[in-house]
Amino acid sequence: MDVKIVEEVLRGVVHPVKEKSVVELGLVEDIKFEDERLRFKLVFPSPDALSSSIKKSCEKAIREAFPNDDFKISIMELVRERKIEKKKTVALGQEVLENVRHIIAISSGKGGVGKSTVSVNLAIALAKAGYKVGLSDADVYGPSIPKMTDTENIRPTMDDSGGKELIVPIEKYGVKWVSIGYFSKPEQPLIWRGPMASNALKQMILQVKWGELDFLLIDLPPGTGDIHISLVQEIPISGAIIVTTPQDVALADVEKGVNMFRAKGIEKPVLGLVENMAWFTPAELPENRYYIFGKEGGKRMAKKFGIPLLAQIPLIQSIRESGDEGTPIALKTREDSKSYYELAMKINEKLD
Ligand SMILES: Nc1ncnc2c1ncn2[C@@H]1O[C@H](COP(=O)(O)OP(=O)(O)OP(=O)(O)O)[C@@H](O)[C@H]1O
Ligand SMILES: [Mg+2]
Repeated sequence: MDVKIVEEVLRGVVHPVKEKSVVELGLVEDIKFEDERLRFKLVFPSPDALSSSIKKSCEKAIREAFPNDDFKISIMELVRERKIEKKKTVALGQEVLENVRHIIAISSGKGGVGKSTVSVNLAIALAKAGYKVGLSDADVYGPSIPKMTDTENIRPTMDDSGGKELIVPIEKYGVKWVSIGYFSKPEQPLIWRGPMASNALKQMILQVKWGELDFLLIDLPPGTGDIHISLVQEIPISGAIIVTTPQDVALADVEKGVNMFRAKGIEKPVLGLVENMAWFTPAELPENRYYIFGKEGGKRMAKKFGIPLLAQIPLIQSIRESGDEGTPIALKTREDSKSYYELAMKINEKLD
């Protein structure tokens, strides 16, 4: 059997999330044919929830390509982990962020567009893909991460072993969570004035014992005011994601968001736009799309500001329900969470 032909056959096996062939992704190694047995390795760069189904697809593709040949197939599945590169010590002399590879700010000009839902599900999708992930809920005015992760009744502990008091994040669903909500009672409104809000917000990022992380996501409060500007200026973010809904009225808010990151003295890359509630799909008609907030608004905005459209997330009842219940949809690998996994792959490709 010709190994080149086997390779060609495997070119037809596509990773369902990365949407590229296993060969193109460089997962296939050491194809050999000896003693009536075809052997090769599937080497994943990080633990991949889909590895065994990909292995089965490879086997099926080969059997279908050689229906009349009698041979055995041995596919070895393994993970070759990447080492986390140490990031240079960051601004403010904050050695706590030293081992964080990428900091991503998730922002929106307007409130209620689904920024926290995107943040939580993206964090879980990245963690499920094998990355070390932390999320800081920097929304000092309306922290929602405790509710969305069902951690409302947990209080983080403090660690002062390094001579400085640091917040120990709460670990759940494979992600490290920190929220200002853990430090107040859920029913108690948070009232902060400018500098206090700004300090509280920075503490949620800098005064935390994150440990090694591939990605630290920051769920920013909505808007583009002074506290945002001070934060994005001082925190060494690798890039920003702007979340919007498709309506034309959201355009001005997206513009403000983009301008904030591009402003002189800030100049942080905007990784792209996430169009949330891009269409409505009822559970009983999963093929139907109703563009209740207008069609292709996200595409137009992305084009206007010269940034990529990273994801279009449909409005689905299960996304809202799972968020309210504290078990985000990304915990389930199914059709409804697909867009978050695709977003995770795009972010990873852009920043790796
Ligand atoms: N794609 C979606 N499908 C269905 N419901 C959604 C979707 N995205 C968000 N929601 C729901 O919309 C509401 C607002 O979302 P979320 O809290 O994430 O917005 P936000 O932008 O963080 O708001 P805030 O500005 O208050 O921080 C929540 O009830 C959430 O469950
Ligand atoms: Mg929010």
